[in-house]
Amino acid sequence: MIKINTQNTKNFYTQQEYKQMSECALKAHQLLISGTGKGNDFLGWLDLPVELTSDFLQKIKECAHKLASVSEIIVVTGIGGSYLGARAVIEALGNSLIYLQDTKKRPLIIYAGHNISEDYLADLLQLLDRKDYSVVVISKSGTTTEPALAFRILKSHCERKYGKKAAASRIVAITDESKGALLKLAKSEGFSTFIIPDNVGGRFSVLTPVGLLPIAAAGFDIDALVKGAQDMRELCLNPKVDDNIALQYAVVRNLLYKKGFNTEILANYQPTLVYFSEWWKQLYGESEGKEHKGIFPASVTFSSDLHSMGQYIQQGERHLFETMLWVENAGTKVEIPNDPENLDGLNFLTDKSIHQINHKAFLGTTLAHVDGGVPVMHLTIPQLSAYYIGQLIYFYEFACAISGYMINVNPFDQPGVEDYKRNMFALLGKPGYEELEKELQKRL
Ligand code: PA5
Repeated sequence: MIKINTQNTKNFYTQQEYKQMSECALKAHQLLISGTGKGNDFLGWLDLPVELTSDFLQKIKECAHKLASVSEIIVVTGIGGSYLGARAVIEALGNSLIYLQDTKKRPLIIYAGHNISEDYLADLLQLLDRKDYSVVVISKSGTTTEPALAFRILKSHCERKYGKKAAASRIVAITDESKGALLKLAKSEGFSTFIIPDNVGGRFSVLTPVGLLPIAAAGFDIDALVKGAQDMRELCLNPKVDDNIALQYAVVRNLLYKKGFNTEILANYQPTLVYFSEWWKQLYGESEGKEHKGIFPASVTFSSDLHSMGQYIQQGERHLFETMLWVENAGTKVEIPNDPENLDGLNFLTDKSIHQINHKAFLGTTLAHVDGGVPVMHLTIPQLSAYYIGQLIYFYEFACAISGYMINVNPFDQPGVEDYKRNMFALLGKPGYEELEKELQKRL
């Protein structure tokens, strides 16, 4: 199982404060489990790991196989919760240099609809001119501008390349069961579709087809992913702080928040976890950051960022705490060779593995940052496998809901995301936004 170590945060609060915050976490746990807290119409993710049937997972695998069998590339088109979970898992479990490998057993997963960059889309279309591809378009609302725009362009490219009928067989839409433009489009064009349950919000949707289909198409074991989440769910349902790592994490981060540590840095030591951190940032940022409250989620990848952000973390303003995500076992072994001349002075490391050295970097950095006034928690996962990533996903989702309730916000909505959209529509001249456009133009 994943382990948590809060040892290096304990100098920053008293036992009494820990006890009081634990009581607050237990109240939040009760609200969550009884379904009586804010946003309780979005609790579908809580039971997903035990509700996914093997028939349903088989259907996902069959669709993934069908897409993979005709594609060198699968373009996953979505934004926010509609792509970050899939990308987090695919990159965590994948080869760091997969983009450069000539022979691939599975299609390469590439993303679209997560930005409005013309250059990005142009580069993508140029690549798709020469590759066989399919498109998985994902939007719960079915109306989000970025993926809708990208999909319009991709659909038109796909139809030009394969003809309308064959293109339709290469497109899968994942959206709401009853509303939204994407559903209408999928029905009228005859795309295969999967449904995002009504009671599961975007950033909590990795264990729905939103995450499962791209992850399966990339060749990863979704059964193991779900099993990991199931086992973690069991642990998270336990209403005893001492036995529940999600509660412990929520308690400590909220204790630190109360003491003025209002920025949490998720630090990993594996470049393949960069998108896991992106997923985590969205999960916590959108869930907690409202009503002028919430810990600001940031991330770094060590040791790379020890040479960029390390200075600030060590000696900058003291409002930071870190959660370091450590992977206990590397997937492969690379050892330091002996060099008889030892001109670089590194022979003291001969026969050590790179992972052993990374481990010392992890321990050394922890102590340096604690000495610099940064509380540091450790989360340790045994290895980067689908099973443990499944555990980690559920752990973070559960702890996020608890943390949100502990600061008395609704962790499942995102009202603030609408503001930029309104302004963008007005500035684009969308019918109905004329007054706002005039108002905005005066300010620009
Ligand atoms: O967590 C969320 O709900 C959001 O981040 C959404 O996932 C994101 O805005 C995309 O929305 P949609 O899936 O409706 O296109």
